[in-house]
Amino acid sequence: MEMKPWNLMFFVLVLFWGFRIEASFIPADNYLIACGSSRNVTFQGRTFVPDSGHSSLSLKSGNSFVVGSNSSVPSPIYQSARVFSGIASYEFDIKREGRHWIRLYFYPKSGQNLTSAPITVVTDDFVLLDNFTFENYNSSFLFKEYAINVTSDSLTLTFIPSNGSVSFVNGIEVVSIPDTVLPDQALGLNPSAPISGLSEFAMETVYRLNMGGPLVTAENDTLGRKWENDLKYLHVNSSALNVTVNPASIKYTVSVTPETAPNSVYATAEVMGDANVASMNFNVTWVFPVDPNFRYFVRAHFCDIVSQSLNTLVFNLYINDDLAVASLDLSTLTGDLNVPYYKDFISNSSVESDTLTVSIGPDSMADITNGTINGLEIMKLSNDAGSLDGLSSVKNLIPRSSSKKSKIGIIIGCVVGAVVAVALIGLCYCYMAARRSETTQQGHSWLPLPLYGNSLTMTKNSTISQRSGTASCISLASSNLGRFFSFQEILDATNKFDESLLLGVGGFGRVYKGTLEDGTKVAVKRGNPRSEQGIAEFRTEIEMLSKLRHRHLVSLIGHCDERSEMILVYEYMANGPLRSHLYGTDLPPLSWKQRLEICIGAARGLHYLHTGAAQSIIHRDVKTTNILLDENFVAKVADFGLSKTGPALDQTHVSTAVKGSFGYLDPEYFRRQQLTEKSDVYSFGVVLMEVLCTRPALNPVLPREQVNIAEWAMNWQKKGMLDQIMDSNLVGKVNPASLKKYGETAEKCLAEYGVDRPSMGDVLWNLEYALQLEETSSALMEPDDNSTNHIPAIQLTPMEPFNNSVSMIDGGNSGTDDDAEDAATSAVFSQIVNPRGR
Ligand SMILES: *[C@@H]1O[C@H](CO)[C@@H](O)[C@H](O)[C@H]1NC(C)=O
Ligand SMILES: *[C@@H]1O[C@H](CO)[C@@H](O)[C@H](O)[C@H]1NC(C)=O
Ligand SMILES: *[C@@H]1O[C@H](CO)[C@@H](O)[C@H](O)[C@H]1NC(C)=O
Ligand SMILES: *[C@@H]1O[C@H](CO)[C@@H](O)[C@H](O)[C@H]1NC(C)=O
Ligand SMILES: *[C@@H]1O[C@H](CO)[C@@H](O)[C@H](O)[C@H]1NC(C)=O
Ligand SMILES: *[C@@H]1O[C@H](CO)[C@@H](O)[C@H](O)[C@H]1NC(C)=O
Ligand SMILES: *[C@@H]1O[C@H](CO)[C@@H](O)[C@H](O)[C@H]1NC(C)=O
Ligand SMILES: *[C@@H]1O[C@H](CO)[C@@H](O)[C@H](O)[C@H]1NC(C)=O
Ligand SMILES: *[C@@H]1O[C@H](CO)[C@@H](O)[C@H](O)[C@H]1NC(C)=O
Ligand SMILES: *[C@@H]1O[C@H](CO)[C@@H](O)[C@H](O)[C@H]1NC(C)=O
Ligand SMILES: *[C@@H]1O[C@H](CO)[C@@H](O)[C@H](O)[C@H]1NC(C)=O
Ligand SMILES: *[C@@H]1O[C@H](CO)[C@@H](O)[C@H](O)[C@H]1NC(C)=O
Repeated sequence: MEMKPWNLMFFVLVLFWGFRIEASFIPADNYLIACGSSRNVTFQGRTFVPDSGHSSLSLKSGNSFVVGSNSSVPSPIYQSARVFSGIASYEFDIKREGRHWIRLYFYPKSGQNLTSAPITVVTDDFVLLDNFTFENYNSSFLFKEYAINVTSDSLTLTFIPSNGSVSFVNGIEVVSIPDTVLPDQALGLNPSAPISGLSEFAMETVYRLNMGGPLVTAENDTLGRKWENDLKYLHVNSSALNVTVNPASIKYTVSVTPETAPNSVYATAEVMGDANVASMNFNVTWVFPVDPNFRYFVRAHFCDIVSQSLNTLVFNLYINDDLAVASLDLSTLTGDLNVPYYKDFISNSSVESDTLTVSIGPDSMADITNGTINGLEIMKLSNDAGSLDGLSSVKNLIPRSSSKKSKIGIIIGCVVGAVVAVALIGLCYCYMAARRSETTQQGHSWLPLPLYGNSLTMTKNSTISQRSGTASCISLASSNLGRFFSFQEILDATNKFDESLLLGVGGFGRVYKGTLEDGTKVAVKRGNPRSEQGIAEFRTEIEMLSKLRHRHLVSLIGHCDERSEMILVYEYMANGPLRSHLYGTDLPPLSWKQRLEICIGAARGLHYLHTGAAQSIIHRDVKTTNILLDENFVAKVADFGLSKTGPALDQTHVSTAVKGSFGYLDPEYFRRQQLTEKSDVYSFGVVLMEVLCTRPALNPVLPREQVNIAEWAMNWQKKGMLDQIMDSNLVGKVNPASLKKYGETAEKCLAEYGVDRPSMGDVLWNLEYALQLEETSSALMEPDDNSTNHIPAIQLTPMEPFNNSVSMIDGGNSGTDDDAEDAATSAVFSQIVNPRGR
């Protein structure tokens, strides 16, 4: 095909535009308050509004007063302050639960000398500041930043003056943080193990550095963060050199966005310099004074802006003296230069001193002597008392006089609860009514259910029987993580990882074909020892797969973790990925019936993932390369590296960093970062279109309107002209009714909103139906065929409805289309009633 550069450019532009529009974050809660001010204050490009007369903020205190000064202050936000002579609270209405920045500004000399006033600030659950005074403090002002997970519809900030003194504050920010920015899990060090549950802790930013770059202030950061230069923390001044590239050259990804850190942070870095040492083998170390009584969340930002080519930079990262990442190879992790990446850790201060150190140093295993780091964030985690400052808890600090308040709170809570409940019931009613009218209107075209009175209960029954079938598998498998292989066995099976047995290379590592001693063919997936992301995915995959057994899921035979290898052994899938049978190879084209059977198999696998286990599992990376075919072309779903367990019963979605493959990504998941089973349904819709049209999901060299298969095929489907764009090998060989059903199914899967998409169970049902339409039509067209062979699916389920349908088909050559559909569907029926049918 002719390459048109302007098309590509347009595509890239659209992609980036789309990306920026989708991803730029607008905080649901965005309070910027200039306390005690009588007018708006513009500070770092943002407008702070007065604390009085604010509609969703209330100040609960009878005894506060305002001070101000127009003499020189460090910045405009410090011109005024509110001073409290008793306990006082600000209450903020919270629109969206989740982490919020709380930023506090203090300056003791605006108008009155407040240097000796102790400051204690608490939220509903956490102590932020406990008895802080400026008396022995080095700086003339204080700025504090916290990240608190707010789990109710209000946030209270309480200022507690101590005996006979006053408390004060100059400015407050309460701003939503996107869910993806701060994780629930990070790698603990010493011992090295993942630590989860971080969302329960309050965090305080203690250091945030733009390594090798200038100060970046709130106006240059989409989340209003401040990034300092790192030089003053560098242990040996000349050990590091700074490098800078144009910020526009930073290539953000789906998981690292400008919300993670601005491109001006990733566009500068410190690298190993020449520290006038004889040997080039040294560490570059930064030393940070910290409070030794706390644990710290450390995020290191990387972006290879120094290398000229891939895989020429490998180094180690140390936190204190612990090896945090060995042999960090950014090229392998990101696949390209200038692509940002970050890694999270939990650490204590170092054992003997009140410091935390971060070092980069050469990897002794590699012959490359250089390292790089672009940004560093160090955040204190709240202690057991729920405090970030001292040992007192909120309960100890607030005197026991506010019980009246909590009673009012309960009453308000009850009232609000009741109102919400009534609203919910109303909504449910509307929804059900809407559903009802929808099914009666379009039941014929979409759900074939109303045609068959009791089919709904039948479907349910089949699901239940399938469930109980799986339950036994799960209990069997959970006691057994599969077979354990020794490394020697693996070496023997793969002929020492003979490259001629290589089946494929993925993010996780390489996949080889192997033969076990007993002759069983297997696929051996060897984790890249340098792939950090691999460790997490390795665990996920073993945990997920060992619990799952299904005819349409690639099964795990065992694993090997000897010699810190990460090796998974799977059943061998002789016919490889579905994609290679669609395009890009010389393999013979699949027939329409084969395609339908493959899609049905994959849909069964996904349906089982969504409904088969106690907690539903979302695959997250459904695509044609993850659907594999065995020697009989039975489709099995593979690659659970990205899988997540689905929402628990009381939730509707899982919030998560967006992962998956471009072209298959659910637009709703991308926008809202909320994962549901319906995200898999969308990706499966893309697969259906790919199977029909035999072209990649995204093909940037095509004209703009054809680049994205989902968009392009949907346009044709809406015109009812899908046959115009289908694989030319299929033209004239597909029953139009079958194609119509297939097209409608794919269209439903690709609906913009998850709620409008069918479940995998419904998709399965409709594909079965499309297959039956195809099979009945071929039966009708070739009446001379051996009558026991031509409808194999039906042959396997010799039940009453089948016999009826055959007689109807036999005598029904002159019958209407509806009759034929009728007959075919009752055959489908029998299959669903008897799940072992296929
Ligand atoms: C202050 O800023 C707010 C929000 O930016 C705006 O609605 C309001 O009109 C401003 N008030 C004054 C006095 O400028
Ligand atoms: C200080 O500002 C107030 C208004 O905020 C004004 O009335 C007063 O004249 C100013 N004083 C000086 C010395 O500029
Ligand atoms: C403010 O008060 C502190 C102690 O209360 C005192 O040391 C300091 O000199 C005072 N500063 C000014 C400018 O009055
Ligand atoms: C607060 O700190 C001061 C010294 O800075 C100390 O004298 C006082 O006892 C402390 N108060 C409390 C309640 O801990
Ligand atoms: C105060 O600042 C000076 C110079 O900026 C520094 O030498 C000193 O160690 C600092 N003191 C404290 C307690 O941080
Ligand atoms: C606070 O003041 C009261 C009386 O004014 C006194 O009895 C109490 O000990 C004081 N508490 C502290 C911590 O100074
Ligand atoms: C906030 O806390 C709730 C309850 O613990 C949790 O479900 C949610 O994931 C947390 N949110 C974030 C962004 O950490
Ligand atoms: C970069 O390095 C040069 C020379 O060592 C130094 O003068 C400059 O301040 C550094 N810039 C930053 C942003 O660290
Ligand atoms: C920050 O933003 C200002 C104005 O938008 C711009 O002039 C400045 O160059 C930016 N600084 C950095 C480091 O990007
Ligand atoms: C190291 O750098 C800091 C900050 O730039 C400077 O204050 C200090 O004097 C330097 N020390 C040496 C030994 O050069
Ligand atoms: C690391 O790479 C940078 C940029 O290529 C180079 O300037 C520096 O000298 C290298 N450091 C070492 C120790 O080789
Ligand atoms: C770098 O620091 C780590 C941790 O302190 C240490 O184990 C390692 O030997 C150091 N490397 C060099 C080359 O000094």
